[in-house]
Amino acid sequence: MSLTVRRIPHGSADYAAAVNLRRAVLRTPLGLDFTSAQLAGEAGDIHLAAFENEDLIGTLLLTAHDDTTLRLRQMAVDPDSQGKGVGAALLAAAETETRAVGKTRISLAARVSVQPFYARNGYVAVGDVFEEVMIAHIVMQKTL
Ligand SMILES: CC(C)(COP(=O)(O)OP(=O)(O)OC[C@H]1O[C@@H](n2cnc3c(N)ncnc32)[C@H](O)[C@@H]1OP(=O)(O)O)[C@@H](O)C(=O)NCCC(=O)NCCS
Repeated sequence: MSLTVRRIPHGSADYAAAVNLRRAVLRTPLGLDFTSAQLAGEAGDIHLAAFENEDLIGTLLLTAHDDTTLRLRQMAVDPDSQGKGVGAALLAAAETETRAVGKTRISLAARVSVQPFYARNGYVAVGDVFEEVMIAHIVMQKTL
C-alpha cells in the first residue's frame, strides 16, 4: 500500500472527506452526528489525514490543551484499511506535528476497547475509566 500522511486544511474538500469518515466510524454507529458548531469549533485544530493514493482512509485531529500538551481526538481509520499500520502512521505523524509546535506531550481519551493499540504505540494509561458518548474511555498520554 502506498501510504502518505499530511495536514489537511479545516474547511477543505479533504476536511469534508475526513468528517464523513469520522461520522461513519465514530458517530453513526452510536446514532449520533456532529453539530455545525462542533465542526466550526475545530477551525484552530491541526487536522491530519492518511491517504492511499488519493483516497482518504484515516484521520485524527490535535487540539491545544495546555503549555506542554496537545490533545489527540477523533481518530478513525476506514474499516477496510484497519489493521494495516495506518493508525500507527497517523500517530507517528501526530507526534512529529506536536514536536514541531514546541509541545512535549500528547494526551487522549482512548476507547478502552482500543487501549492496547495506543499502548503498543507508547501511550500510558492515567487515571480511571470513565464514560463518554456511552462508551468506556481512559486517558492515555505519551511524553515525546
Ligand atoms: C483504533 C484504530 C484507529 C487503529 O487504526 P489501525 O489502522 O487499525 O491501527 P494499526 O493497523 O496501526 O494497528 C492495529 C492494531 O490496533 C488494535 N486494534 C485496532 N482496532 C481494534 C479494535 N476495534 N479492537 C481491538 N483492537 C484494535 C489491534 O491491536 C491491532 O493489532 P492487530 O493488527 O495485530 O490485530 C482503528 O482501528 C479504528 O478506527 N477503529 C475504530 C474507531 C476507534 O475505535 N477509534 C479510536 C477511538 S479512541
